Amino acid sequence: MTVRKLHLLGSPVLRRPATPVAAVDDAVRELVDDLFETMRAAKGVGLAANQVGVAQRIAVVDVGEEFPPPLVLVNPRIVQASDVTETAEEGCLSIPDIYGDVERSLAVTLEALDRDGRPYRTELSGFKARAVQHEIDHLDGILFLDHLSAVKRHLLIAKWKRSRKGQSGYIKDVTPEPAGEL
Ligand code: NI
Repeated sequence: MTVRKLHLLGSPVLRRPATPVAAVDDAVRELVDDLFETMRAAKGVGLAANQVGVAQRIAVVDVGEEFPPPLVLVNPRIVQASDVTETAEEGCLSIPDIYGDVERSLAVTLEALDRDGRPYRTELSGFKARAVQHEIDHLDGILFLDHLSAVKRHLLIAKWKRSRKGQSGYIKDVTPEPAGEL
């Protein structure tokens, strides 16, 4: 397994709608494993393939041991979303240190293929439902910033640009923190 480089806001692949996976083969499984490895190294709870520069409809979600199991999302689709929504703070590994309140459906029904290419359907709610909606957005070229009001979005983008002063490029190495580090 490999920790891959992360693509940050400004990288065109984040805005590219990802291509459906034709067959779940060893290359797809390797990417899934790398997504988990990269997400965990970066201390994230979800990661989509375009965030590591691959425009394919593949993502992973692991919001912690209290919400098992971790999810592999290959060609994921939300087939039902509750009208009831919840607004909560979100961040994104591709936009480090920027956070905003996003309104999402509280519950969703998800259909996807797993790591072995088997179709599954599951009902999710709360934080896990939120994470899945965030990752599927990525596969459609949508970022959480797009859900905010224009005023709020512009404010956060300005803050992001200030935080990026002096840094060039939008592909970043993930440096895993030593175990035990807070
Ligand atoms: Ni994200």
